[in-house]
Amino acid sequence: MIKKCLFPAAGYGTRFLPATKVIPKEMLPIVDKPLIQYGVEEAMDAGIREIAIVTGRGKRALEDHFDINYELEAQLRGTSKESMLAGIRSIINTCSFSYTRQTEMKGLGHAVLTGETLIGHEDPFAIVLADDLCFNGDHGVLAQMAEVHARHGCTVVAVEEVPLSEIHKYGVIAGEEIEPGVYRVDAMVEKPAAEVAPSNLAVIGRYIITPDIFDILRETTPGAGGEIQLTDALLQQAKQGRVIAYKFEGRRFDCGSVEGFVQATNFMYHEKMDGADRRKNLR
Ligand code: G1P
Repeated sequence: MIKKCLFPAAGYGTRFLPATKVIPKEMLPIVDKPLIQYGVEEAMDAGIREIAIVTGRGKRALEDHFDINYELEAQLRGTSKESMLAGIRSIINTCSFSYTRQTEMKGLGHAVLTGETLIGHEDPFAIVLADDLCFNGDHGVLAQMAEVHARHGCTVVAVEEVPLSEIHKYGVIAGEEIEPGVYRVDAMVEKPAAEVAPSNLAVIGRYIITPDIFDILRETTPGAGGEIQLTDALLQQAKQGRVIAYKFEGRRFDCGSVEGFVQATNFMYHEKMDGADRRKNLR
């Protein structure tokens, strides 16, 4: 059972400026929910109840979102709009939230290491990069990964086949397929050029990681882009046969890009409308 999920959320979101000048990119809405809430709901779907968020300057809206807004609740109480807060209210009632700040932007590996104080060394934990919005009905990607982790007992990364023209944007794995869609990873490269990519299997922003990663990260020197890369630390675990890559079921939208953000918005809009139609028919 995975108990904790870490959300690195200190990045600037420069691709969405000026929208992200004062609003954290994780708070940009897909239809009517901020990106990070989708990630938290996916974690809850995997049985996780402890949410740890690595924030930074200008990110206080994240903390306020996962807190009670008494004035708003008092205003809406007893009105037809009260139900609109039910979802977030139940998240707040069910989960605990803890925060720490990353003071320097030195890459994803550094952000994860900053979260060590919230995660500790006892248990494997999940990581969600909220930019990657995943959807798979009521069996979310993290829940699928938790099952893979329960079988193999080591680190699990979610992968997806991407066109070679896109591969330079991702961490890329290679390994032996030990079950359909499940690979024992033996190579991992962060943002390779298409010509040297070890495969077309890209890591997306979902991980379940054993806590020895923190000690490895402490020793990890800057890699691609001059940043401390989580991929480089995971490679050290992979060299010991302790990383599984899992081709997940469902859809993933890269909401860190404008195109992916728009696709996710359209997709979620239709999901919401279909759901509303279904509920209407049930009445
Ligand atoms: C990060 C990781 C990369 C992974 C990607 C998934 O990159 O470093 O390995 O493939 O997330 O979204 P970023 O998108 O932060 O550049």
